[in-house]
Order: sequence, then C-alpha cells, then structure tokens
Amino acid sequence: MLQKPRGTRDFLPDEMEARRVIEWSMRESARRWGYREVCTPEFEDLELFTMRSGEGIVEEMYVFEDKGGRRLALRPEITAAVIRMYINEAKVAPKPLRWCYFADCFRYERPQKGRYRQFWQFGVELIGADTAQADAEVIMLAADMLNATGVTYDLNVGHLSFMRNLLKDLEYSAQRRMMAYLDKKDFDGLKNTLESMNKPDLGASLISLAGCRDLAEAFEIGGTVPEKERIIRTTECLDAAGVNYSLNFGIARGLDYYTGTVFECFAQNLGAENQILGGGAYRLAHLFGGDDVASCGFAIGFDRVMVSLGAIQQKKDTVVAIVCTDEGRRHALKVAGMFRAAGIRSEMDLMERGLGAQLAHASRSADFAVVIGRREAESGNVTLRNLQSGEQKILDLPSAIAEVSLHGAR
Ligand code: HAM
Repeated sequence: MLQKPRGTRDFLPDEMEARRVIEWSMRESARRWGYREVCTPEFEDLELFTMRSGEGIVEEMYVFEDKGGRRLALRPEITAAVIRMYINEAKVAPKPLRWCYFADCFRYERPQKGRYRQFWQFGVELIGADTAQADAEVIMLAADMLNATGVTYDLNVGHLSFMRNLLKDLEYSAQRRMMAYLDKKDFDGLKNTLESMNKPDLGASLISLAGCRDLAEAFEIGGTVPEKERIIRTTECLDAAGVNYSLNFGIARGLDYYTGTVFECFAQNLGAENQILGGGAYRLAHLFGGDDVASCGFAIGFDRVMVSLGAIQQKKDTVVAIVCTDEGRRHALKVAGMFRAAGIRSEMDLMERGLGAQLAHASRSADFAVVIGRREAESGNVTLRNLQSGEQKILDLPSAIAEVSLHGAR
C-alpha cells in the first residue's frame, strides 16, 4: 500500500474543520489590525534563500532542478518571498505595508511530534516602518493572534544588539556559529568553542546575557548599544498596551536576517517542539535589489498551535438527511435545495437505498431526517424526525427549516 511521504500528514474532515476555525480566528485578528493577505509561489529560485544564509541552507530544503535547468526550492519560510514580492510589485506603495499570509512551508528536517516536513505558517510582515512602535505593534499582534486561538503560551522579547555587541570582534562566520549555539541553548558547545578560541570571558558574558531577563542588567552585560532608546521605547509601548511578556536577551533566532528586536512564543503544554511563534525586525530588501527597507514580522507555527490546543470540541454542523421514496424524489430535491439555501447542511441518499435503509443510515450520520413520500409530495409538507429524541412532526417547509435552525443555534 502506498504511504504519504515522510514528515507529511493527511487531514480528515473533522481535523480540517478544527483547523479552519483556528485559521479564521487568526485571519480575523490580522484583519482587525489592518493586515491584508498576500500569496506568493510555493517554489522560488533557490537563490532567494541562499543569498542571505549561504549554500549551507540547501541541506535543510527541498531543492530541485526544473526541465529548464533552473535551481528551485520549495519555500522553507515565506518572509524572503514576501520581500521579493514587495520589491517586484509594491515598492512604490505608501508605507507602511501591513501584509499577512497563511501558507505551507517545506523543510527537510527529522520529523517528530510538532516537527514536519510540510507545515503551515500564519505570518505577518510590516514593511517600511522603522520605529519602536512598529516593532511593538507586531509583537502586540502576535499576542492578539495567539490569544484569539485560546492557546496558552509564554512570550519572550529580546534584542540582538547586546549579543552582537559582545561578538563584534569575531569574524562573521564565527559570530554566526556562536549565535547558532545560543539559539539551540547549547551553552557547553558555546563555552568549549570560545575557550578553544582563547576567549573564555566572552563565553561567560554570553551565557549570563542568555539568562538575563532585565533591561538594566542587559545594558550592564552587553554594553551600551546604539539602539538603547528604541529598546526602551518598544518595552514602554508593550507595557502601555498591557502585553504579557518577559524580556529574554538569549534569543538569537535561527534565521539570520534579523537586525534588532526579536521575539518567540512557547506553548506551555508542549514538549521539545514548543516554539509556536518566532519573529523580529529584519532587513532583506536590499539583498534582492530593492531599497534598504526596515521590516518586522513573525510566523506562527500553525500545526504546533493545533497540537497544543489538542482535541478541542468543535461545535458541529446540524445535519439533515433528506429521506425519500421514488415518488417523493422530485419534491425532495426541491426541499433539499430550500434547506441548503437556508444555510443548513443537507444530504440525500446516493446509494438507491430503500426508505428503511435510508433512515437507518440517517440515524448514524444526521441529527434530523426529513421524510418525503407520496403524501408529503402531494401536500407540500414534510415529516421532520428528530433522530436524537425520536420525536416526529408533520410541518410545512418554513416551519421545518425554522425548527432545524433553532436546534443549530442552541
Ligand atoms: P521560524 O522561527 O523559522 O521563523 O518559523 C516560525 C514558526 O514555524 C516556528 O516558531 C515554528 O512554530 C514553526 N515551524 C518551523 N519549523 C517547523 C516544522 N518543521 N514543523 C512545524 N512547525 C515548524 C520564520 O519562519 C520566519 N519567517 C518568521 C518571520 C516572519 N520573521 C519575520 N517575519
């Protein structure tokens, strides 16, 4: 029997319905803040992703050559594509641009619970605003969006300037290596590497910075950084808006386009793969041939949010089975149409079953049966049976529709 590719999933209708409810709560939140949806291609020129991160990233991606010999990649994330699109399509649009997306990404990772090779992100990008309030708005929206889903999480906010200040004397490649240790919280690896480079003090400073949760202390460890005012003002905005967050100056972020404010959210009830959101301020546009435009954004790991929410009880659709005899069929088709026009999910037999078998099937799959035989076809009325209580009434069509609607509203 053929199986789906490793790291991918199938979603049955119950799960898809649950996913759509959460997706729409995120969409509603984005809409309230003025973020409008965009869509980019599922695959891009490989260069879009290697330009900033180097060829090393190819190991973590689905890369292929098309029939024209172009090197393409399935998108591992959407930020780079959104900025490419901004340069191609919307460079001259009035700033700031508030954009959002809900789309699947592909990463060649070792699959485990909460880590997939195809996964979905709900993300936002705020393009062209280079202020403390812009950074704060994106963080506030992240919190609002997660709150709308009902997931419980911790929000950590940091700034890369302290880490970068401490690392400034190392070469760029060494800086990136140290940031990767910090991102993975591999403090032993960090310490050992810096000791072998004869910089044990730097290791100690970085580790205490990673544990630092206080702004004044961060300035002590990381030194006075040019972004000091902006960092203070960002936190003031978050405090004024009542956002529930902790400062965390150990956040390094895995992707290397970030320039300043960075933030991450962790679900309280998940194990190893508990990071449900990551983002920050970044600059990418200049790499792709545009102006050097400041941006800030985040992406929610949608699948992890769903794992964290667990088996949520969705309010299910009320289902009506339109059950009929041959003589009632013409009338039944009309009745089904009327129920659907009233927004009620209505299903008819497609298996050419007899009335008894249709009712037996309805009792397993529906909340109501609308029975239509010759008598109903002649009178225009219907027999409405509540399949839970067994109660049965003959009603005119508007009354039957009203009765079913009332049940759905309860
Ligand atoms: P990221 O931290 O690489 O950031 O991914 C964002 C979120 O996607 C993660 O926090 C995680 O929840 C989810 N995620 C990542 N990999 C997987 C996976 N293999 N399976 C399931 N979920 C996963 C970005 O992608 C940036 N583009 C975010 C951003 C937007 N920064 C600025 N704007």
